[in-house]
Amino acid sequence: MTKVSVIEAGKVGEIVAFGLANKGIVNEVTLVDIIEGLPQGKAIDMYEATPVLGESTKVVGTNDPTEVAGSDIVVVPAGSPRKPGMDRMDLLKINLKICNSVVTNIKENAPDAKILYIANPVDVMTYAAKFITGFPSNQVFGMAGVLDTSRFRTFISMEENVSQKDVTAMVLGGHGDAMVPLPRYTTIGGVPVSHFISEEKMAEIVERTRKGGGEIVNLLGYSGYYAPGIGATEMVEAIIKDQRRVLPAVAYLDGQYGFSDIYAGVPVILGKNGVEKILEIDLNEEESAALNTSLTSVKAGIENMKSLLNGM
Ligand SMILES: NC(=O)c1ccc[n+]([C@@H]2O[C@H](COP(=O)([O-])OP(=O)(O)OC[C@H]3O[C@@H](n4cnc5c(N)ncnc54)[C@H](O)[C@@H]3O)[C@@H](O)[C@H]2O)c1
Repeated sequence: MTKVSVIEAGKVGEIVAFGLANKGIVNEVTLVDIIEGLPQGKAIDMYEATPVLGESTKVVGTNDPTEVAGSDIVVVPAGSPRKPGMDRMDLLKINLKICNSVVTNIKENAPDAKILYIANPVDVMTYAAKFITGFPSNQVFGMAGVLDTSRFRTFISMEENVSQKDVTAMVLGGHGDAMVPLPRYTTIGGVPVSHFISEEKMAEIVERTRKGGGEIVNLLGYSGYYAPGIGATEMVEAIIKDQRRVLPAVAYLDGQYGFSDIYAGVPVILGKNGVEKILEIDLNEEESAALNTSLTSVKAGIENMKSLLNGM
């Protein structure tokens, strides 16, 4: 019996839960939220879709956080999203409080569960989740790179009018406007993307990828949730099925890429133990400098988080 709990039944949480039920990835999905009626209502609606989907997943909604017990993975998007004019760091104070109570509850009721963090600023919040629980680093990781590469792949496929499926890409660094999309490691059908797209055009696509979250916030007034939610289901599937997928994840660096005691987006192997391995790829001078800039801002966020946590 496989069970995944999703902490929040708002926009991202409902897509994660529905993605898992829709693909029949786990036996049971438990949707937890503090708003009465919300997780129960969304869960029964999703459950009622499963006969038509031809899936057997049981979907449960609850306001009782202890129902995370027995989870293989707890996905945590619980937190406020950005509003126009805010950057992801503006969310730190609000979302840290939520993180503290959510991960303390996971530690008490599901100490063996892997934690897949989503709430922003995700690199800092994932660090906080590990810091508060004391869980080993393979057990605590975050989702950002699957979303950022998915955006990058989409924009490239739009430019070349080819299937999104045939574009593979890599994005490193913190999940912020300083993230580091890597055109050198991006291919269309296995052929380096530089064969198809000019440097100037690629610079525009990189910029659009970096600001991809903001593009949606400006259009909707709140952040995107389809691509983030479905991105998390890909990571859950890799772990539940022990697929050893190579995906970008927010992972704990212990010397890799020259950084220690920090969470940031890097390529990893995801399998039954969570982050099985961090893959180190060669970076040129320009890519290293961009990664440095991105991770310097994550480091500052972590220091800020630690002092906020002290005052809680
Ligand atoms: N990592 C990424 O790539 C990525 C992408 C998109 C969104 N996000 C982040 O995900 C978070 C959620 O976004 P959203 O659009 O789903 O927000 P939303 O406002 O739709 O939903 C938030 C939900 O969290 C619930 N909540 C608050 N505290 C809780 C707690 N202690 N336990 C359970 N539920 C609780 C609220 O009741 C609400 O239903 C935001 O921080 C957003 O910035 C991250």
